[in-house]
Amino acid sequence: MKRKLFLFLAVAALLAAGCCKPSGNVIKTTVPARPAGQQDVIGLTAEPIETVRIGMVGLGMRGTGAVERIPYVPGAVITALCDLLPERVEESKAILEKMGKPAPTGCYSGEKESWRALCEQEDVDLVYICTDWLNHYPIAMYAMECGKHVAIEVPAALDMDEIWGLINMSEKTRKHCMMLENCIYDFFEMTTLEMAQRGLFGEIIHVEGAYCHNLDPYWDEYWNNWRLDYNQKIRGDVYPTHGIGPVCQVLDIHRGDRMTTLVSMDTKSFNGAKITSNHTGKPCTDFANGDETSTLIRTEKGKTLLIEHDVMTPRPYSRMYQVVGTDGYAAKYPIPQYCLREEKPADQVDAKHISDEKTYEGEELKALQAGYRNTILTPELEALAKEVGGHGGMDFIMDYRLVYCLRHGLPLDMDVYDLAEWCCVAPLSRISLENGSMPVEVPDFTRGAWDRVKGFSYALAK
Ligand SMILES: NC(=O)c1ccc[n+]([C@@H]2O[C@H](COP(=O)([O-])OP(=O)(O)OC[C@H]3O[C@@H](n4cnc5c(N)ncnc54)[C@H](O)[C@@H]3O)[C@@H](O)[C@H]2O)c1
Repeated sequence: MKRKLFLFLAVAALLAAGCCKPSGNVIKTTVPARPAGQQDVIGLTAEPIETVRIGMVGLGMRGTGAVERIPYVPGAVITALCDLLPERVEESKAILEKMGKPAPTGCYSGEKESWRALCEQEDVDLVYICTDWLNHYPIAMYAMECGKHVAIEVPAALDMDEIWGLINMSEKTRKHCMMLENCIYDFFEMTTLEMAQRGLFGEIIHVEGAYCHNLDPYWDEYWNNWRLDYNQKIRGDVYPTHGIGPVCQVLDIHRGDRMTTLVSMDTKSFNGAKITSNHTGKPCTDFANGDETSTLIRTEKGKTLLIEHDVMTPRPYSRMYQVVGTDGYAAKYPIPQYCLREEKPADQVDAKHISDEKTYEGEELKALQAGYRNTILTPELEALAKEVGGHGGMDFIMDYRLVYCLRHGLPLDMDVYDLAEWCCVAPLSRISLENGSMPVEVPDFTRGAWDRVKGFSYALAK
């Protein structure tokens, strides 16, 4: 009875807030009209920048890693550093000094909004944001207002207002607004994308992605306990982008197809409250985020995506990454595998065999992959990425591609609509969960342009 009353009140509250409306059996969120005179940013290009001058905001675990990688990217220079904590700015300054790099011209710390001065600094072309989640949006918005391109760590935006805010600001200022989703640059994903684009799996009909990562060893490491705190307060798949990003590229989302409807279901919180009690030393009885959240999404062209989130249980690390096609299959976890239909002459078909596909693992998998090197992954770039590192090299490839495209005035690999589509799983899964797993409409973030470009491709300089 109590639960029914709660659900009723939750729906009433959401409706009263005007954020979403049930229509038939689907909940719809508000799609703001595109402001007059504004155009979409599909294929956005900007003036080439010979040397990309980068201002780094947020120098914790992730930001420090970026400070160590970026000096190896050709044509990139760090000209400004900012963190709330002065000692973190000093540590990053020391890293650059040890590498023999020029001292940043601006260093900012101590105030909640010290980043404003960094965004205003003249010799900054790109603001690279690695703070906790709650700070991403205000910094990115101000940076674009100041005429800077922005790159924002995952998830870039937390709710639908933030998502639409970033879209509108990027469209208005014609500045790039890219989410730093590194997993699209992992070697298995890049090779599999190439295979899919060359038709090896037939038509892709279903994909799976996940973030299953037991964060027990990390909870204590986050500044001010921001991550556990957010999970305690917010229900839904709060970290969907690593799982959904690579599989959306395979499905050509907003490049010929688009996500239309989503439904979510979660477990109750079994471990979350216990972890919080241990962490804070105080009993915790209310933990909003379920230990395991699953979201199913359908596309305009009748394809499906399954996205999972679990940071609370000791299951092995997995981003799932499964691609199911009419003629083949790829899976990265737990064992990298491809399966392809095997054409056998009729006299060799063994009736006792239950399936007619060939599975590629180990050395056979490597031999198959060798024929599908991704166009952007030159042997030189692969070698440098593996040397510099960052999740095995994918972080470096992400930084390299971002700077390469800015230097050549090319469209970036990920635009603000990718950011929107990959981030929206968090707020929309929450709405579905808080309404008894009702379907929720996934808006067309391009506002009418999702079918203009046919297929995902990387931009390359002539
Ligand atoms: N792509 C990936 O593989 C990956 C991996 C880890 C983390 N991340 C993302 O990176 C981001 C940062 O995570 P982290 O692990 O480094 O967290 P962290 O807690 O180690 O670092 C956050 C930093 O932000 C700083 N900060 C907070 N408020 C600030 C403000 N107002 N101005 C300036 N600095 C401020 C803190 O002082 C801290 O140094 C998060 O969005 C996270 O999701 C991505």
